[in-house]
Amino acid sequence: MSSIRVDVAGVEEGTQLTVKWRGKPVFIRYRTAEEIEEAKAVPITDLPDVDARNENLSIGAEATDENRGLITPDMEEGADSPWLVMLGVCTHLGCVPLGEAGDFGGWFCPCHGSHYDTAGRIRKGPAPENLHIPLAAFDGPTEIILG
Ligand code: FES
Repeated sequence: MSSIRVDVAGVEEGTQLTVKWRGKPVFIRYRTAEEIEEAKAVPITDLPDVDARNENLSIGAEATDENRGLITPDMEEGADSPWLVMLGVCTHLGCVPLGEAGDFGGWFCPCHGSHYDTAGRIRKGPAPENLHIPLAAFDGPTEIILG
């Protein structure tokens, strides 16, 4: 399957870039410290889906904020990444969620009312799973390879 490179140098903190990859939207968000703190403050036991849904991690990894962010080249181990890269496909029936919306400050799917938090984790509504994280990695400080 094909990989693509995305230059994220122009993405400012608190904003999101949407790119199309393999026919699907991919959200690339540069989160603020507040967004990260909000996500970190949520106990795993409060999450409807406790699986990280992160293709970059082994199966069974928990949906902590640390396990949802994309590791950057200069990150210390155990730190939480400001970068979130996720398929923009609601895990209910596949609509595209809206950013900076919903009850948890993350994404909101208007089709049937699913609310995702600032780590893209489902918090309320019919969607059964967190937004999926595809294979992705930084290559240098400002380029992300998808796939
Ligand atoms: Fe998103 Fe149904 S498709 S809530």
